[in-house]
Amino acid sequence: MINIRPYRETDKYFVQRVCLQTVNDDIVFEGLNRVNAELFLTLYNDYYTEQEPQNCFVCTNENDEAVGYIICSDNVKRWRKVFMKEYFPRIRHRKLSEKLMGIGEIAAHSLFACRYPAHLHIDILKDYRGNGTGTRLMDALVAHLKENGVRGVQLCVDGENVRGINFYKRYGFKTLFNFIKGRAMGFRIL
Ligand SMILES: CC(C)(COP(=O)(O)OP(=O)(O)OC[C@H]1O[C@@H](n2cnc3c(N)ncnc32)[C@H](O)[C@@H]1OP(=O)(O)O)[C@@H](O)C(=O)NCCC(=O)NCCS
Repeated sequence: MINIRPYRETDKYFVQRVCLQTVNDDIVFEGLNRVNAELFLTLYNDYYTEQEPQNCFVCTNENDEAVGYIICSDNVKRWRKVFMKEYFPRIRHRKLSEKLMGIGEIAAHSLFACRYPAHLHIDILKDYRGNGTGTRLMDALVAHLKENGVRGVQLCVDGENVRGINFYKRYGFKTLFNFIKGRAMGFRIL
């Protein structure tokens, strides 16, 4: 039985594992078809669990280990400021195409920050997908953001991630912008 609960500090290792496994399983960025922990955890994981743990939820297996998560920042401006100061320097030495992945996310989220001040990442290990867990994680986050008066939430998704795009559409996300290899999508909460 899969349980949904708020993130705890002791989930960090499991959440990082889910991030690296799902990147490796499903999304192959050009020139980056192997797990690259430093890059992916910096771009898509550590900021959220370290800086905004109150905006993170996990789904857990029978041993209470996180097998999926939804992690979120509820304020693009704050995320951008802290991310650029404390996290981006960790990948500054990397090649331009890798740094551009982060810069692209910042540009996309900044563009829609007014109507959609929050943004999220959601990932679930393969064996636990497709039985409503993604929807339950999304429900938990949306209810939490609503309680806190957050107007909307956005995300960026790889253009080839058809399953992900369909999941978001079915949940009620609208396409905000199509960029070269992906799209920005948004969901109004209030
Ligand atoms: C995208 C993702 C988070 C969706 O999570 P999920 O658990 O698969 O989503 P859900 O189960 O809520 O919905 C997906 C499917 O389950 C079905 N479903 C929903 N509730 C259900 C239930 N109670 N029982 C059975 N099936 C159900 C949905 O109809 C849907 O079916 P379909 O895909 O065949 O149309 C997950 O697939 C994932 O982690 N993918 C890999 C990483 C990824 O792409 N992340 C997003 C990057 S932007």
